[in-house]
Amino acid sequence: MIAPTAHLGAALRLFGEPTRLRILGLLELSELSVGELADALGMQQSRVSNHLRLLRDAHLLQERHEGRATYLRLGVPEEVTDDLVARLWSTLRAEIPTLPEFTSDVARLHAVIARRRARSRSFFDRVASEWEKIGVDFEHGEARERVAAHVFARPLVLADLGCGTGYLASSLVGLCAKLVCVDSSAAMLEEARKKLEPIARGAALEFRRGELDELPIADDELDGCVAGMVLHHLDDPADAVREMRRVLKPGSSAVVLELAPHKEEWMRDEQGDHHLGLDPRDVRIAFERAGFVDARIEAVEDRYQPKRREPASSEAAPALPLYIVRGRVPSGA
Ligand SMILES: C[S@@+](CC[C@H](N)C(=O)[O-])C[C@H]1O[C@@H](n2cnc3c(N)ncnc32)[C@H](O)[C@@H]1O
Repeated sequence: MIAPTAHLGAALRLFGEPTRLRILGLLELSELSVGELADALGMQQSRVSNHLRLLRDAHLLQERHEGRATYLRLGVPEEVTDDLVARLWSTLRAEIPTLPEFTSDVARLHAVIARRRARSRSFFDRVASEWEKIGVDFEHGEARERVAAHVFARPLVLADLGCGTGYLASSLVGLCAKLVCVDSSAAMLEEARKKLEPIARGAALEFRRGELDELPIADDELDGCVAGMVLHHLDDPADAVREMRRVLKPGSSAVVLELAPHKEEWMRDEQGDHHLGLDPRDVRIAFERAGFVDARIEAVEDRYQPKRREPASSEAAPALPLYIVRGRVPSGA
């Protein structure tokens, strides 16, 4: 149980400093590292730390540690919702857009997020031509077959989201009338095109450049979708799961193939990873919150064998466990 925060005077002092309100406003919009938060505020990191300490002490922040990185987001745990600070915040939050700095904070936040995305895009643009050697290495391929088995063989419109060079797409193309391949990297889409066109056997192929949290796909356009090894690249995987729900027809399924949490810090630089794997329970919760039913976690025997690109590294990387989460859009939805 978290102790209740101090008296009214302390609580008012906490919210009386506009920088702290701006921080809370930004962290309500997006999870950010301390450096990103400082950039979004247009301030030095050293000026932000003290405010963060006070907000943390007041239980207004949630921290997520991943390897060496710490990410912050606004978080009022349920056990403190009776707390004075939490109650004051629930009144004040609606006023945040009236702060004079709000518009420029949000503009800088968008720039911070755009830089993050551009980093990921340019990473994959750079490695696209060698990705088949470094990034597609599964021990026996069973995971791919399992993913494909979850989408049905009738005239369907399927999508591979974050298709990369088309590893999963290549097993879907024979199952559908149209396959939509989405990726934020133009170079990866080009690699996928080279792989898929020769094996399409009459299936229509579409290559659409776009982000998983803002899919270039219409509502209800798909009869099924897969997203393999991509959610761990996103800031908030739940945003992508909500988008999958939006673009799927009633009764159709989404299947995610993901890495279990791991400690291979080097994969951030050498494989462009943002999260070091994802907890399957969090992915299942994201499915449930997005409105999928029968959301299930399935173990797969396959493992992912990452390859190091760094020539100086003699250490072989361990094979990493994988899992599937799948869910169905309710039939009457
Ligand atoms: C690790 S590769 C996986 C590719 C493929 N699905 C597979 O299983 O081999 C991740 C892919 O996701 C793409 N990607 C990363 N972040 C993305 C985003 N926010 N939106 C769309 N694609 C993204 C990358 O460009 C890359 O092609």
